[in-house]
Amino acid sequence: MKIEEYISSLPDSIISGQEVQLLDDSLREIFKLAGLGANDIFYHLGCGTGNSLQIAAKEFGARAVGIDNDLEKISQIEKEPRITILHQDIIDADLSDATIILFWFSDETIIGKMLEKFSSLKSGCKIVTIFDPLPGVIPNKVSFPYLLHQTPFTPAKSLKDQLMTVFETECIDFTTAWEHAERYTKAVGSPDSGNDRFLTILQTIMIWINAKNLGLSCTQEIPAPVKAYIEILDNFFNIEVRHLIK
Ligand SMILES: C[S@@+](CC[C@H](N)C(=O)[O-])C[C@H]1O[C@@H](n2cnc3c(N)ncnc32)[C@H](O)[C@@H]1O
Repeated sequence: MKIEEYISSLPDSIISGQEVQLLDDSLREIFKLAGLGANDIFYHLGCGTGNSLQIAAKEFGARAVGIDNDLEKISQIEKEPRITILHQDIIDADLSDATIILFWFSDETIIGKMLEKFSSLKSGCKIVTIFDPLPGVIPNKVSFPYLLHQTPFTPAKSLKDQLMTVFETECIDFTTAWEHAERYTKAVGSPDSGNDRFLTILQTIMIWINAKNLGLSCTQEIPAPVKAYIEILDNFFNIEVRHLIK
């Protein structure tokens, strides 16, 4: 079956990623990248059960604000003087005092609306996203898959320009695709997940194909390892991706 059919056969909860919570060590890495400290007001948009807020407040001494529209999740957050919890849609949130924001959403409507909101925040506010940069913006700092954008935003001249900053390279070969896919899987996967290798393979192939379609792959031909993984996916998992290559 085509990969699109495979993805649409997965449960909604997996596709929306609503239940995915970042690992504590991934959050620590994000806070180090952003230089979170006692003078910061950290906002986590879609904070879930709030492990980020505890780490930001207790380990980094920051004030932390968590926003989530799921009451059941936020009711599990341990109360702490430096933590504020808001039961709200992030679209309606007042972010004017934020200095560092963690924003990990893939819904394009939400991203579009939030980009407008972020653009009007005071100068020097840092917005961290995961894997995808903010649309049309060049990240100021990259520790893949964590991308930091600072206001006022630097506009990207093109998608190519943006991808080159995210991948920190002139072109994408198999090794670059694999390394980035693996870093992403490790950052968002569960520590004992048995599916990590499968996800890394899928992600590697998608990174390479997207790069190829944008004219950013190092070679016109499909590299041998990418070819081999495309065949493994097809023969052993019945997932076909070749049609995505333009
Ligand atoms: C941080 S998002 C991550 C979603 C996913 N990983 C993705 O890439 O889109 C997940 C959390 O956001 C919350 N959430 C989703 N939509 C929301 C909204 N419009 N306002 C506030 N919280 C929201 C969910 O309840 C969940 O705890």
